[in-house]
Amino acid sequence: MIRSHGRSATTPLLSVTGITKRFGGVEALAGCTLSVREGSITGLIGPNGAGKTTLFNVISGLTPADGGEIRLGEDRLDGLSAHAIARRGVARTFQIPRPLGRMSVLENVLVYAHAQPGEGLARVFTSPARVAAAEQRLRERAHAILESVELAPLAGDRAETLSGGQKKLLELARALMSEPRMILLDEPGAGVNPTLMRSLVEAIRTLRAAGRTFLLIEHDMDLVTELCDPVIVMAQGRTLLEGPFAEVRRDPRVLEAYLGTAA
Ligand SMILES: Nc1ncnc2c1ncn2[C@@H]1O[C@H](COP(=O)(O)OP(=O)(O)OP(=O)(O)O)[C@@H](O)[C@H]1O
Ligand SMILES: [Mg+2]
Repeated sequence: MIRSHGRSATTPLLSVTGITKRFGGVEALAGCTLSVREGSITGLIGPNGAGKTTLFNVISGLTPADGGEIRLGEDRLDGLSAHAIARRGVARTFQIPRPLGRMSVLENVLVYAHAQPGEGLARVFTSPARVAAAEQRLRERAHAILESVELAPLAGDRAETLSGGQKKLLELARALMSEPRMILLDEPGAGVNPTLMRSLVEAIRTLRAAGRTFLLIEHDMDLVTELCDPVIVMAQGRTLLEGPFAEVRRDPRVLEAYLGTAA
């Protein structure tokens, strides 16, 4: 059954309520409201320019909203810095991967360790032995994460030598380094070849089974079909509807949003 967007009966992990964001004359977010159930892989689809990436930028604290509210469980996230939001357990990947090209694949994952609660540098400034032990633990964790996305064999390679699809997997690995509860993936499948796509799907499923929650923007409808339930449709800065993809894809309002004309 497709239901109009609103709060579900159980408390969602992420709730976005009435978020607005304007860039000059463009109303990128026009009172966007949605929620993400804990343990779900929720899809976020919609035509180009619908406001999906802007919503991720607002949730992750990179772009301040003009109005509205964002909560992780009961905690307010809006108004916090990107760093504070990451520390509360929200991680995101970018539509265009941004690896530090001259650094190795492993180092690219390690630089994200700062957001890890309990592994702050202040805690290890006690003795060189403790610093070394903490760094060793981080390296082991980074390696385990690279293994989970099948990038471990490339750990020592410079990030700029990776293919487009491998850079997408590296983005996911970096996001995981902060042990997030909520992971925002912006088009993880874009430019990923079929073999790497299997790794990506398996990695996301394994992570969900381990208790992670995903909100996933995607234009690749095969990936949406395979991974996402429910799917939320956005158009013109608002959520249109939510439901299982098999039902959402047949809804006339969705067809209209994609075609940009009255159905
Ligand atoms: N920094 C910015 N300055 C000005 N306009 C912006 C900015 N960021 C986004 N926009 C505009 O806001 C609207 C929403 O863009 P957004 O990138 O969020 O869409 P999207 O749903 O992610 O699209 P796509 O599927 O193409 O990635 C667009 O009209 C875009 O041009
Ligand atoms: Mg986008």
